[in-house]
Amino acid sequence: QAASISADRVPDMEKRKLMNLLLLGAISLPTVGMVVPYGAFFVPAGSGGAGGGTYAKDKLGNDIKVDEWLKTHGPNDRTLAQGLRGDPTYLVVEQDKTLATYGINAVCTHLGCVVPWNSAENKFICPCHGSQYNNQGRVVRGPAPLSLALVHADVDDGKVLFVPWVETDFRTGEDPWWK
Ligand code: FES
Repeated sequence: QAASISADRVPDMEKRKLMNLLLLGAISLPTVGMVVPYGAFFVPAGSGGAGGGTYAKDKLGNDIKVDEWLKTHGPNDRTLAQGLRGDPTYLVVEQDKTLATYGINAVCTHLGCVVPWNSAENKFICPCHGSQYNNQGRVVRGPAPLSLALVHADVDDGKVLFVPWVETDFRTGEDPWWK
C-alpha cells in the first residue's frame, strides 16, 4: 500500500515542480529579455515600433491577436495584458470597436497597487487608498500624485506590440513622468 501512495504522489510532485518552473519562467523571462536592450531602448524609442517593443501577452502567456481580441472584447472594454517589463497593462477598446493606440499601465502611482477598471463608474478606482483615474488613466482623485503611465499599443503582424511612450502625454500635455 505504501508503494501505491508514493506512486500516486510522484506525478503530483513532478507537476508541482513543473508549475514552479513555468511560474519562474513567466516572471523572469520578460525581465531578462529587457536587461540587454535596456540602454539602447530609450534612445531611439521615439521612432515608434522600429526598434524595441514587447508583444502583449494574455493571461495564459500567449501573444494577443488584435482581431481575436476584438471578437471577445467590446466597446469601452479595458482588460489587463502583460506589458513592458511584465507590468500589468490595460488594452483599451474604443467606442468604435477598434483597439486604442495606447495601453494604460495598471500600477497605481501612489504605492503601486494594481488598479482595477470599474466599467459602471467609467473609471479606474484603486482599492488600496481610493485614488481614481478617468477612462484614459488620467488621475482625477488622490492620493495618487500622477496619472497612470502610457505605452504605445501598436499592431505588428496582427499582434499587439507594446512600445515605450516617450512623447508628450496627450492627457495632460506634459512630458511623461515615467520616461
Ligand atoms: Fe493606489 Fe494607494 S496604492 S491609492
